[in-house]
Amino acid sequence: MRLNCTLILTINCIEEMNIFVTGANGQLGNEMQLVAKNSKDHYIFTDVCDGYQKLDITNLETIREVVKTQKVKCIINCAAWTNVDAAETAGDIVEVLNAKAPENLAVAMKEVNGLLVHVSTDYVFGGDPYNTPCKEEQKGTPTGVYGLTKLHGEEKILATGVDYIILRTAWLYSEFGKNFVKTMMNLTDSKPQLKVVFDQCGTPTYAGDLANTIFDIVENRKYEGHSGIYHFSNEGVCSWYDFTIKIAELTGNINCDIQPCHSDEFPSPVTRPAYSVLDKTKIKETFGIKIPYWTDSLKKCISHLMK
Ligand SMILES: NC(=O)c1ccc[n+]([C@@H]2O[C@H](COP(=O)([O-])OP(=O)(O)OC[C@H]3O[C@@H](n4cnc5c(N)ncnc54)[C@H](OP(=O)(O)O)[C@@H]3O)[C@@H](O)[C@H]2O)c1
Repeated sequence: MRLNCTLILTINCIEEMNIFVTGANGQLGNEMQLVAKNSKDHYIFTDVCDGYQKLDITNLETIREVVKTQKVKCIINCAAWTNVDAAETAGDIVEVLNAKAPENLAVAMKEVNGLLVHVSTDYVFGGDPYNTPCKEEQKGTPTGVYGLTKLHGEEKILATGVDYIILRTAWLYSEFGKNFVKTMMNLTDSKPQLKVVFDQCGTPTYAGDLANTIFDIVENRKYEGHSGIYHFSNEGVCSWYDFTIKIAELTGNINCDIQPCHSDEFPSPVTRPAYSVLDKTKIKETFGIKIPYWTDSLKKCISHLMK
């Protein structure tokens, strides 16, 4: 009986937090809106577009002001420059959004002893020819502006001394926004033949699974004493070619002839990593989570899209 009372008291002692989600209109931001519906915390969804509380994360003074007036104790940063090819020629804005802006959020959270949850990418790797899954402590070797600016963002967060959880993820897709799954569902439906690269391997990540993991870490205060960088993707490994074959199969687009090809058949302004599989041992052991296999999550997302 005494044990039960102690347990109830402990649970009730968790104080409600005001949490900002930035980039709420993006893929991950939309999934965060779904998972946070039944939270005991108070989520405030922000973005630069209409329909959300306006928050431009490149402006430190604005962030400071709203954090103070709305008593925000946690920021989940889903905003970023995510167009990998365009990053090569877009200029300063990519560094501002992927590095300076996360630093702004970290500074604002540090000032109120809050927590920053930030999302980074497998593209911080790729310059070295890995053939085993990348671990968190491995040196970043980005091959392009996007990966480099995301790596700078991580470094700037660490330098502020804030409590942080950085989640590096990969090949993100969801029901929302533009992504590889939606593109391939359309192409395998409309084209008789398709070539897809088989010499880039990684792991797809359903943004709904990533959102669930972020929610679990924050809602259950699992982050306490565990500031650090963690890797999160779905389980398994595949090439973009394998990914496409599975998308076509699950969508029922059986008439498209999908063939593997090399990356040099699709010239791009940036060389993408040949192997950027993330080792997820640390996140699973630290937070006690189980991660779905990539085809199971893909099936779930496609069934939602086809409804
Ligand atoms: N997509 C992937 O394959 C992938 C892979 C690995 C890691 N990641 C990382 O995962 C995270 C989430 O990616 P995602 O695909 O969900 O991104 P996304 O769909 O591109 O969404 C990003 C959101 O941020 C908003 N935004 C842009 N500038 C802003 C500003 N100054 N202030 C506030 N918000 C701003 C965007 O608005 P507008 O649309 O109006 O610009 C958009 O709503 C990012 O950190 C990304 O680097 C993504």
